[in-house]
Formats: sequence, structure tokens, C-alpha cells
Amino acid sequence: MSSRTATVTGPGFVAADFGHLPLRAGSVDAVFAIESIGYARDMPGLLDQVGQVLRPGGQLFVIEIFRTELFGVVPARARQLCAATERLLAFPDLWSVPDWVALAYDRGFEVTGLTDLTDATVPGLSDFARVGGSCSAPSSR
Ligand SMILES: C[S@@+](CC[C@H](N)C(=O)[O-])C[C@H]1O[C@@H](n2cnc3c(N)ncnc32)[C@H](O)[C@@H]1O
Repeated sequence: MSSRTATVTGPGFVAADFGHLPLRAGSVDAVFAIESIGYARDMPGLLDQVGQVLRPGGQLFVIEIFRTELFGVVPARARQLCAATERLLAFPDLWSVPDWVALAYDRGFEVTGLTDLTDATVPGLSDFARVGGSCSAPSSR
């Protein structure tokens, strides 16, 4: 058996508000944001934070809920249901993908890939559209 030893340094863990990352500028290779930054109340500030801690050429991976283009075209009642659901889930106003991508470019990122998972998620906005189109408020209580 070998008597040699080695010290292996793995990833570290820090618990912090993602709006105030206690990390050195340019100190990380990648940021994974899995169902989290949708809660950001200051998305431009958040992207600036991430851009700051990433090394040049570092990458940000985001998996998040975004509003789809359907949000703008479904009946008003469906939009209200969506907005109410967002509030129930404690989201501030959700971003649409085009608006978020434009913001990312504005904050110095290059967006290199997008995958739309809408069809794989439930309930879809189309469900809200169906419900919203057939519901009306009670006339009396
Ligand atoms: C829907 S959960 C997802 C958790 C995890 N990513 C997962 O996939 O199971 C949203 C997470 O965002 C975190 N979060 C919300 N606002 C945050 C903030 N300002 N700073 C850091 N984390 C935050 C919450 O603590 C929560 O863990």
C-alpha cells in the first residue's frame, strides 16, 4: 500500500443572499441558478453580481420559470390567474425570455443557448387560458 497522501480540495459551500454574494471578483468558473433567480427583486443587480464573481469566460446556467408569449395574448382573466399564482408562489413579476435575454446582453453576458421546457411543465399557461375562459366571479356571496 502506498504511503503517499494527497490533499484534495473540492467545492466549498457558502450560504448567502444571491443579491450580495460574498465571493471574490472573478473567483468562480460557473454559476448554476436552479429555480431561484425568479425570486430576484433586482434582476439587473443580480446579473451584475454574477458577472462580477465569474472569471472572464465563466458561465451562468439558469433553469427558471419565465412568462411565455401566451401571457400577452390569453384572456385578461387568464392573465389575472397567472399573476395570482405567481404571487402565491412569492414571485415578483416574472420575466419573459426575450426581456431577460435582452437584459443579460445589456449586463454584458452572451446568451449561448436556450431550451424551452414549457411543454414538459404543468400546469401550462394553456390550462390557465382554458380555466380563465370558462370561469366568472360569483355574482353574490
Ligand atoms: C423553488 S426553490 C428551488 C430550490 C433548489 N434550487 C431546487 O431546485 O430544489 C427556490 C430557492 O430560491 C432561494 N432563494 C430565493 N431568494 C433568494 C435569495 N435572495 N438569495 C438566495 N437564495 C434565494 C430559496 O431559498 C429557495 O431555496
